[in-house]
Amino acid sequence: MTKNTTHISAEGRYERRRFLKLAGCGTLGIMTGGFWPKLNRFAAEVKTGSEFVPDIDIFLSARPDEVAIFPGVPTKVWQYHAKVENGDKARINKLPGSYLGPIIKVHQGEKIRILFKNNVPEETIVHWHGLHVPAIMDGHPRYVVPKDQAFLYEFEVKNRAGTYWYHPHPHGRTGPQVYRGMAGLFLVSDDQEQGLGLPDGEYDVPLVIQDRTFDSTNQLVYMSGHRMERMTGFLGDMIMVNGLPDFTLPVATCAYRLRLLNGSNSRIYKLAWNDGRPLIIIGTDGGLLEKPVYRKYVFLAPGERLELWADFNDHPVGYETSLTSLPFETGGMDAGRMSKNPRLPNGSDFPIFSIKVTRAIKNHLTLPAILSDIEPIQQNEADNFSHPRQFYLTMQHMQWSINGRVFQLEEVDGDEIVQLGSKEIWEFNNTGGGMMRMMNMPHPIHLHGKQFRVIERRGVMHEGYVDEGWKDTVLLMPGESVRFIVAFDDYSGMFLYHCHNLEHEDLGMMRNYFVRDTIESGQRI
Ligand code: C2O
Ligand code: CU
Ligand code: CU
Repeated sequence: MTKNTTHISAEGRYERRRFLKLAGCGTLGIMTGGFWPKLNRFAAEVKTGSEFVPDIDIFLSARPDEVAIFPGVPTKVWQYHAKVENGDKARINKLPGSYLGPIIKVHQGEKIRILFKNNVPEETIVHWHGLHVPAIMDGHPRYVVPKDQAFLYEFEVKNRAGTYWYHPHPHGRTGPQVYRGMAGLFLVSDDQEQGLGLPDGEYDVPLVIQDRTFDSTNQLVYMSGHRMERMTGFLGDMIMVNGLPDFTLPVATCAYRLRLLNGSNSRIYKLAWNDGRPLIIIGTDGGLLEKPVYRKYVFLAPGERLELWADFNDHPVGYETSLTSLPFETGGMDAGRMSKNPRLPNGSDFPIFSIKVTRAIKNHLTLPAILSDIEPIQQNEADNFSHPRQFYLTMQHMQWSINGRVFQLEEVDGDEIVQLGSKEIWEFNNTGGGMMRMMNMPHPIHLHGKQFRVIERRGVMHEGYVDEGWKDTVLLMPGESVRFIVAFDDYSGMFLYHCHNLEHEDLGMMRNYFVRDTIESGQRI
C-alpha cells in the first residue's frame, strides 16, 4: 500500500464562507429580504466573480417532525421540507403522509440555488446522489453544518434525464439520519426524454423502497449498536414504499413509468413481478437506457435506481399483482444466522408492494424502441487501459475497508489522485479469499460526482444485473469483480467513493479521491 498521504485543504478555505450563520436572523421572510444579496456575494467569490443567476431558488430545511404512519401515536422522524422561493412552485412535490423529503424536479441546463438550513440537533450536510456537480456542491462530510446553520448550494444541472436523490452525508451519521427519514428524490428531465412520450403525470410513479422497524409505540428502532450488527448493516422487518407500510398502487389499464429507488440502509432487493411477467427496464442510475431490457428478476442495491415500464392494458379491473423480492444467497457474513434480523434476513422472500387495477381507460402508449442516445464504450480510450486502478473490498481488524484503508476526512492516498481530463478504468474486487471467505458480504460501490459505464463483471454467481447505461452505484456480490470506465472531464477537487451499505459507509468503508487539475512534477498521473 502506498503511504503517500496527502491532506488537501487548498479549496477548504472557500467552504467556511458557505456556512451562513442564520441563527438570530429570524424568519425566512427577513432572510429573503436582507439576506440574499449577501449570499450572492459569497457565491460569486466561489464562481470567480461571475454572477450566478438561478432559474429556481429553493429553501430546504431538515427538522424533527412527526408523521402519522400508523393509527395512534405519530412517529417521530427527521424530515426534509422545501419551499420554492423563486421560480415554478410545481417543482416541489410532497409525498402525502410520508416521512420522506419532497420530490424536487428540475430540467437539464437549469441553474439551481438551494439554501439548506439544518434544524436537526446534530451536524449534517446534503449530498445530491448521482448529480454531476462541482466538489464544493457535492455535500462532502467536511462541509457539515452545525444545528441552526446553513449551506448554500448553487449548481447547473448537467445530468441526463433520470431519477437521482438527495440524502445526508455527515461522517459516521449517514445511516441513522437517512433512517430517521432524511432522503428525497431529485428528478431530472431533458428535451430528448420529453420528446419520447413516456407516461407522465400520475402515470410516472416514484417508488422509494426502504425497510424499517417500529416499536410498540410506533417509534423507529435503529440498531442495538452491536459491532456485529453494524458490520452486517441494519435490516428492518417492515417494507416501506414512499414511507408507507403495506403499500398498494392503484393503476388504470395503461402504461406506467415506475421509478424505483432503493433507499434502504443495507437491504438488497431481488425484484420480480409476482405474476411472472418480465421486468421491462427502461432506466438505471444515470437515466434512460439506449433501449429497453428485459429481465426475469433484477437486483436493486442501496443507492441504486431502476425505471420500469409496466403496462396493465391486458388486465381487467380487479386484477392484482405485486412486485416481490425473491430469495437469494448473500454470502458468509450476511446470511440469516449472522444477521440480527431473523424475521426478515437479507435475501429472504417477501412482497414489496401490491398493484391493483382499479379503472379502465383507453389511453395506450407504446414502449419506444429507442429511449436515448448512449455512446458505445471505448475501453481503449482509457488512459490506464493496460493497468486499471485496483480496489479491494476487505475486512481488517473487524472493520470494512477499501484497499485496507478506512475513511479519513481530508485524506487522499497517492493512488487515489486522478488527473483532470483523464479517462480511467477502475476495478473493484469483492473477492475476499482464504480465511476471509466467511466474512464476505455484498457491497454496493458508489462513486460521487460522476456517472460511469460498467465494462465487465467477473465471478458472477447471479443473473439479474442491469449493467447497461449510466451508473453511479454498482453491486458486487461476494466473489465478484467489476470494471467501469469513467471520464474526469471537468470538475476538479475532492470527491468520495464508498460502499452504499450505510452502516459500512459510517464505519469507514469510504475514501476520498482527488481530481487534480495541475500536473505536479515527479508524480505519476
Ligand atoms: Cu448516496 Cu455518498 O452517497
Ligand atoms: Cu452519492
Ligand atoms: Cu459494504
